[in-house]
Amino acid sequence: MVNGIARVRVFSTAEALGRALARNIARRLAEDPATVLGLPTGRTPIPLYRELVRLHRAGRADFSRATTFNLDEFLGLDPRDPRSYRSFMQRQLFDHINLPPRRIQFLDGTTRDVGQECRRYERAIDRAGGIDLLILGLGMNGHIGFNEPARALVARTHRARLTPATRRANATFFGNRASAVPRDALSMGMATILRAKQLVLLATGATKARSVQRMIEGRVTPRLPGSFLQLHRHVEVWVDRGAAGKLSDP
Ligand code: GLP
Repeated sequence: MVNGIARVRVFSTAEALGRALARNIARRLAEDPATVLGLPTGRTPIPLYRELVRLHRAGRADFSRATTFNLDEFLGLDPRDPRSYRSFMQRQLFDHINLPPRRIQFLDGTTRDVGQECRRYERAIDRAGGIDLLILGLGMNGHIGFNEPARALVARTHRARLTPATRRANATFFGNRASAVPRDALSMGMATILRAKQLVLLATGATKARSVQRMIEGRVTPRLPGSFLQLHRHVEVWVDRGAAGKLSDP
């Protein structure tokens, strides 16, 4: 195998995947309560967050000493705006667990100084000792965070221009109007992502199958940012049957 990611786990459903990863995270928190997690938004991690909330309510997941860093945020949206990624995370996870608000780290989409905000985020990650486990989603076009397919990628946290395809994919949160989706976002860069100690990329549904196949079996190319994960020593890809559908050796 000249290209590729060796560690791929295929689950029967998106729910089964979410349950398995939630248990894995709860175990990790029990072993190291001060774990630093990196978290994504989107539809894919919803079963994971639902299960983490359930485990927490059952007394089996304690976030009291954990820290989280989210991957990205729309530029121009207030954190309290229901369409912001911050609000999404509050609704799906943070409002229902015992993670201290001061240890929830997020990019500020209302910043007036983008450069300074991006540098602040990089420093905050460093001060926390780096991200122990970064969970990632995969855009339909192969993007990671808001690192979109391009001729070249940006290394660190930066302002990113969204592609029309990504604005369409995010339109559900904006009254189904792609034109209402912000044109820009703040996102961890590919080097920020690759600095995490461990990566787990999640992809579910047949619409992701083509990008999953290229990411796992193709060459490393900025045309498919997910392929850069091949450069990490400690990466796993967790998929359901739909997303695994085009792998040559699932
Ligand atoms: C969004 C986010 C990504 C996310 C991706 C997939 O644009 N910026 O961080 O991983 O799209 O979203 P979904 O899980 O809804 O398919």
